[in-house]
Amino acid sequence: MTQDTFTIRDNSTGKEADFPLRRGTIGTSVIDVSTLNKQMGLFTFDPGFVSTASCKSAITYIDGEKGVLLYRGYPIDQLAENCSFLEVAYLLMNGELGNKAEQAEFEHEIGQHAMLHEAMRSFIDGFHYDAHPMAMMVGIVGSLSAFYHSELNMDDPEHRRISAMRMLAKMPVIAAACHRHSIGYPFVYPRADLSYCENFLNMMFSLPSQKYIDKDNYISPVAVKALNLLFILHADHEQNASTSTVRLASSTGANPYACIAAGIGALWGPAHGGANEAVLSMLEEIGSVDRIPEYIAKAKDKNDPFRLMGFGHRVYKNFDPRATIIRKACYEVLEQIPGNDPLFDLALALEEYALKDAYFVEKKLYPNVDFYSGIIYKALNIPVDMFTVMFTIARTSGWVSHWLEMMAEPGQRIGRPRQVYTGKELRNFEPPKK
Ligand code: ACO
Repeated sequence: MTQDTFTIRDNSTGKEADFPLRRGTIGTSVIDVSTLNKQMGLFTFDPGFVSTASCKSAITYIDGEKGVLLYRGYPIDQLAENCSFLEVAYLLMNGELGNKAEQAEFEHEIGQHAMLHEAMRSFIDGFHYDAHPMAMMVGIVGSLSAFYHSELNMDDPEHRRISAMRMLAKMPVIAAACHRHSIGYPFVYPRADLSYCENFLNMMFSLPSQKYIDKDNYISPVAVKALNLLFILHADHEQNASTSTVRLASSTGANPYACIAAGIGALWGPAHGGANEAVLSMLEEIGSVDRIPEYIAKAKDKNDPFRLMGFGHRVYKNFDPRATIIRKACYEVLEQIPGNDPLFDLALALEEYALKDAYFVEKKLYPNVDFYSGIIYKALNIPVDMFTVMFTIARTSGWVSHWLEMMAEPGQRIGRPRQVYTGKELRNFEPPKK
């Protein structure tokens, strides 16, 4: 191997070729195998993309061994401590934090784009009252392409920016509308005088007879602070399953609303964003500390499909820095909005038990971001089936940032993986026997 190249040798044919090693600013280098098939007549095989980088990106960096997560170079704990969600969204989308005027203009524009086309109300009304809100989200966000088809020249950077702003602005409005629909309450319009998180809480919980600020209730500073924090922690996570889905769909040149709808579908699964809902169900099922050993045994049993939800991560093998921040926030929130303490106590006991168990230690399974997020959402009165929708609102900032980055990159190619074919060899057609 010469410097900056990697030699691959096929022992069956003796054929060998050099491939460039590509280095990012920080992090693991990659072998550029894009000419592998041309040079050696081979493909790589990497189910689950365990060792494969699918793109270059300057947005988010993770060091899974050290528990590092950076957005545009800034450590997640510093952003969580000092920023609002929309400041982080600006950073993700634009690469730098906005100055006061830039941020104010960004937030004003988000306010302008928040309204939904009135005809969308009848579209939402078409869903059955007990539809899962994530099912509604996939459909409604996909339908945005039918309502907002102006500014869709994807070669025009301004059109792309407007589409991204629309999605970021409308996502909490759609999310709250899904909730109101499911409980049969009238929709609440977004208000330009409220911040992003205040607005969401108002659209979720206000009643026609209620003055909008009910400081002890749903728009308390505690609730707004907690929501900002959770949205920041969920905002982006480099090439996770849903972001990769958005990128893959976008590589075909598809409409951006359809691509984000595809991402929402991917996020819904319990191995990804659906985990926060699954953690709460699991904690409620376990019910008490004395049943923890029984569930830990189930999680370790290879014949039992049960997994400890909110535990383990493809990338983090030491700790998830987001889980550390959320665990701390749980103490603060529950001190001020009590009610969920038994669940939190149970979660703490479960974490302590699992982290002492040889199975979890050997496999490096630690609590991930979603082990504790549901406890905070529940304290804020967010219904359990809305937990993954909350994740969707936050992750929209990451999805649109990756989409903008990708669309601006010259020489984009359609994403098209290969396969190892394991089916029948060539055979001639014969009519099926009667
Ligand atoms: N409980 C019990 N065993 C587990 C768990 C768990 N939560 N997670 C992984 N393992 C075991 C696996 O059975 C496997 O064991 P093996 O080596 O004997 O086969 C080993 O640990 C490695 O697990 P993989 O599934 O190969 O790890 P992968 O990186 O593919 O999956 C994932 C990561 C999906 C997060 C997995 O840990 C999991 O299912 N966790 C529970 C769901 C969850 O919390 N998801 C949220 C992730 S964070 C997010 O998306 C925001």
